Amino acid sequence: DSPRTIFSGIQPTGIPHIGNYLGALQQWGQLQEEGHRVIYSIVDMHSITVPQDPAQLRENIFDMTACLLACGIDPDKSILFQQSSVSQHAELAWVLGCKATMARLKHLPQWKAKSGSKEEGGVGLFTYPILQAADILLYKASHVPIGVDQVQHLQLAQDLATTFNYHYGQYFPLPKAILGETKKVQSLRKPNSKMSKSEADPKSRIDLTDPPDVVREKMKKAITDFNSSVTYDPDTRPGVSNLVRIHSACTGLSYDEICRQNEGIETAKYKFVVADAVIAKMDPIRTEILRLQKDRGFLEGVLREGARKARDIAEKTYSDVKKLVGF
Ligand code: ADP
Ligand code: NA
Repeated sequence: DSPRTIFSGIQPTGIPHIGNYLGALQQWGQLQEEGHRVIYSIVDMHSITVPQDPAQLRENIFDMTACLLACGIDPDKSILFQQSSVSQHAELAWVLGCKATMARLKHLPQWKAKSGSKEEGGVGLFTYPILQAADILLYKASHVPIGVDQVQHLQLAQDLATTFNYHYGQYFPLPKAILGETKKVQSLRKPNSKMSKSEADPKSRIDLTDPPDVVREKMKKAITDFNSSVTYDPDTRPGVSNLVRIHSACTGLSYDEICRQNEGIETAKYKFVVADAVIAKMDPIRTEILRLQKDRGFLEGVLREGARKARDIAEKTYSDVKKLVGF
């Protein structure tokens, strides 16, 4: 296997929840241990496709930096940077956008979901998959860790790379998805939908900064069903199965092992077993986030150094692109 260039981005939307960690960030930390070139971006330019309070956005960027570091992203092994610090993202997005069609973008899920397909939706919301393609191609990424929800956007990046190569000469490698094992975490309040920051009820998710008593309280309120036993059957028992999945992701135990170990335990009691597993896994991360949040100077330094390394690559790519395009 030749060395990969791995790129992924996350929006600075506040403190991540355990779904973000178990479904994405944990894997981000592992990928940097495998000898690849790994680049992670806090994609603040994507954030402003929906309304943002400027002071809050600024805080969120530092919070996300602290969280990524606490989750194991090591700035000596990965390039960790803020997207808006590298102007070539916007420049390459323009070039790629000139090769994208309205018809293609209209069918992408982010536009359908957030704009309600209304023509009054922001132009940025419509075009941001092009910016995502630029994020990836600017580093000539060969692999992109994504959730299943992002597959169509990665296909757009592949299509734009193909179109660019067709018009201007073979230049961009086609980025492949790393889907990993999908550790999808469901909402604690609506177990048929995924745990998400966009759900209004804060009890629906466990944030990485929730202290142990809050974790126990939220687990206690998790929606299950009237069958008081521990089994794994996501179709008929989504609530308790979600708890088993969280338990498994936090301990490495299989669903079978968990169900066997907790046979005969009432669901109400089992919730505290899961809470303890979550606390054991996540509390060191919480402690580290709190420590890093107090060290603004350190976080600024990490982002500054990351931007410098990212810019080195981005400038090279974009200067090649300019020549190919005829600028
Ligand atoms: P949210 O839906 O909370 O806004 P994002 O869309 O910002 O989360 O997702 C950030 C990353 O976390 C993505 O890679 C996404 O696939 C992953 N992710 C988000 N929610 C979950 C979840 N409930 N379970 C597993 N992974 C998730
Ligand atoms: Na989302």
